[in-house]
Amino acid sequence: MKYVLPVTLLSLLTFNVSLAEPVSGERLYTDKCAICHAAGELGTMALSRRLGNERAILNERTDLPAEYVRHVVRHGLNAMPPITRGDVTDQELDLIVEFLTAPH
Ligand code: HEC
Repeated sequence: MKYVLPVTLLSLLTFNVSLAEPVSGERLYTDKCAICHAAGELGTMALSRRLGNERAILNERTDLPAEYVRHVVRHGLNAMPPITRGDVTDQELDLIVEFLTAPH
């Protein structure tokens, strides 16, 4: 019985640490977008057809305006379905947009 309290405290501490860990835009992009935007996936193939190979991989692009990315994510574009706030919060979208529009 005397071990219950320390163990509970320890698990609470671990839980808090994992909550506080910042999620990067790159990580969110990998989780939420790469399923269609990695090489060989649906989004990459559609962009390659419409815009050419050199603009097919989204996270290698340097020509994406932040407002355009936001618009496409919330409203969809052709075969890309709109992504709701239930799936990607506004805060998460900010991080993804920052990642995609950062100089690289
Ligand atoms: C279910 C698959 C799917 C997912 C998930 C997805 N996309 Fe797309 N996306 C597409 C497809 C397909 C296109 C190409 C539409 C076209 O050009 O016909 C596209 C196009 C785009 C474009 C337009 C690029 C341009 O130059 O016109 C942007 C920006 C974009 N996606 C951003 C994102 C972001 C950011 C995420 C993650 C939050 C995401 N997409 C997740 C399928 C997806």
